[in-house]
Amino acid sequence: MELKDKVVAITGGASGLGEASTRHFVANGSKVMILDINDDNAKAICDELGDQNVKYVNTNIMEEQPVIDAMSKIEEEFGKLHVAINCAGTGYGARILGKEAPHLLDHFKFIIDLNLVGTFNVMRLAAQLMDKNEGEENGEKGVIINTASIAGYEGQIGQSAYTASKAGVIGMTLTAARDLARHSIRVNTIAPGIFDTPLMMSAPDKVRDPLLESTQFPHRFGQPSEFGLLAAHIVENPYLNGETIRLDSAMRMTPR
Ligand SMILES: NC(=O)c1ccc[n+]([C@@H]2O[C@H](COP(=O)([O-])OP(=O)(O)OC[C@H]3O[C@@H](n4cnc5c(N)ncnc54)[C@H](O)[C@@H]3O)[C@@H](O)[C@H]2O)c1
Repeated sequence: MELKDKVVAITGGASGLGEASTRHFVANGSKVMILDINDDNAKAICDELGDQNVKYVNTNIMEEQPVIDAMSKIEEEFGKLHVAINCAGTGYGARILGKEAPHLLDHFKFIIDLNLVGTFNVMRLAAQLMDKNEGEENGEKGVIINTASIAGYEGQIGQSAYTASKAGVIGMTLTAARDLARHSIRVNTIAPGIFDTPLMMSAPDKVRDPLLESTQFPHRFGQPSEFGLLAAHIVENPYLNGETIRLDSAMRMTPR
């Protein structure tokens, strides 16, 4: 599917990997709807890139009704939806047995709810809207891109909640692609290594330095624009389906 004149919903599109995707898709002629909860960032991006190219709807992806409303807004503003990119999510660190107490159950549930259930929530409702499309020349109606993490494969100490959420996204990818194949919608996942986004930049040096050491070539953290490049390729390549692609400079995370 070409990017030009396509309508793209990007959760977490107001920061980091989602923001880079917003910028890349707009630069290539797509119309973007940002689904996020960071009003200030989102509005600044809309002002900068132009309200005719990017619009914003405050949407908590963990809830059902706000995502239903966001899909209605996309239909109202742009008429249809071709691509959904799930970038909203966050990290969390705690050992199963901490010094003071066991891992808080509510914290574990929150990370699963945001990173995994939120992704599924957007995927199912985006697919419903995409299914109304007539389809491209090759029949394709839509493309969904989810964001996992290499921690979904090799989570570090203290990452049980995060790893479980991202392994869930990875595990769901092939099933979702099979499930939505009869609707001509492709589903792929990107598993990023470490990227220089606000999420990582706020981490202390004792966390960042060993991770930087594990990068191979290029021996640096990823640039968010490199995530945008891969998301665009997934949309453009019609034979890519049901796959999780690592984007990590060949790094493998160590236990700590
Ligand atoms: N940065 C990295 O190194 C890295 C590595 C691997 C995976 N990831 C994953 O990539 C995704 C994006 O990470 P990032 O680094 O760009 O983070 P970020 O914090 O820069 O951006 C996340 C965005 O999601 C939004 N958001 C949070 N909760 C939300 C909710 N309930 N509803 C709607 N929007 C919500 C935030 O407002 C923010 O704009 C996350 O899922 C993260 O786990 C990031």
